[in-house]
Amino acid sequence: MMNNKNIVLIGFMGCGKTTIGKELAKNLSFSFIETDVVIEQEQNKTINQIFSIFGEEYFRELEKQTYLKVSNLKNYVISTGGGVVKYQQNIINLKKNGIIIYLKATPEKIYENLKYDNKRPLLNTKNKYKTICTLLKEREPLYEKYSDITFEVNDNTPFVLAKDIKNNIQNR
Ligand code: S3P
Repeated sequence: MMNNKNIVLIGFMGCGKTTIGKELAKNLSFSFIETDVVIEQEQNKTINQIFSIFGEEYFRELEKQTYLKVSNLKNYVISTGGGVVKYQQNIINLKKNGIIIYLKATPEKIYENLKYDNKRPLLNTKNKYKTICTLLKEREPLYEKYSDITFEVNDNTPFVLAKDIKNNIQNR
C-alpha cells in the first residue's frame, strides 16, 4: 500500500487538478493542498498580482520553496501549478514522498475549461487557444517524463476519475 505517501497531481492549467484532487482526497481520507493557494495566502496576493508586480521568475522562486515545503507532508493530495515541471528539482523533491500523477488533457478540453478564465497570466494573450497549444507542446514531454502514472481526463467526470485513480494506486 501507500505508506504515508502523498499523491502529487501534475498537468497543464485547466486540466482539473483542483477538482479531481479534492475528490480524490475525500475518497482516500487524505488532506488536500494546492500550492498556488499556499503562495497566494503567504504573499497575500493573487497569482495575477504576483506576476504583474514581481514577474514570472519571482513567482517560480516562490513555487520552488513551496514544493520543497509540501514535499515533507504525509497523506496529502498535492495539487501543483502547471509550471512545476519547469525545474527538475521540484519533481525530485515531490517524488521523495509522493506518487506523481499526470492528468492529461487535450488542448481542446483545456481551452473549453479556461475560455472564460482570467486567473492565468500566461494565457492572457490575444489567441488563448494558440497559446495553450504552444505551451502544451513544450510541457507535455516533461509531464510524461516525470510522472509515475498518466490518466486521461477528457471523457471522464472528476468523480469517476478520482475513483479510478484511487483504485489504481491502491492496487500498486
Ligand atoms: C502556471 C499555472 C498556474 C499558476 C500560474 C502559472 C503555469 O497553475 O501556477 O498561473 O506556468 O502553467 P494551474 O496549473 O493551477 O492553473
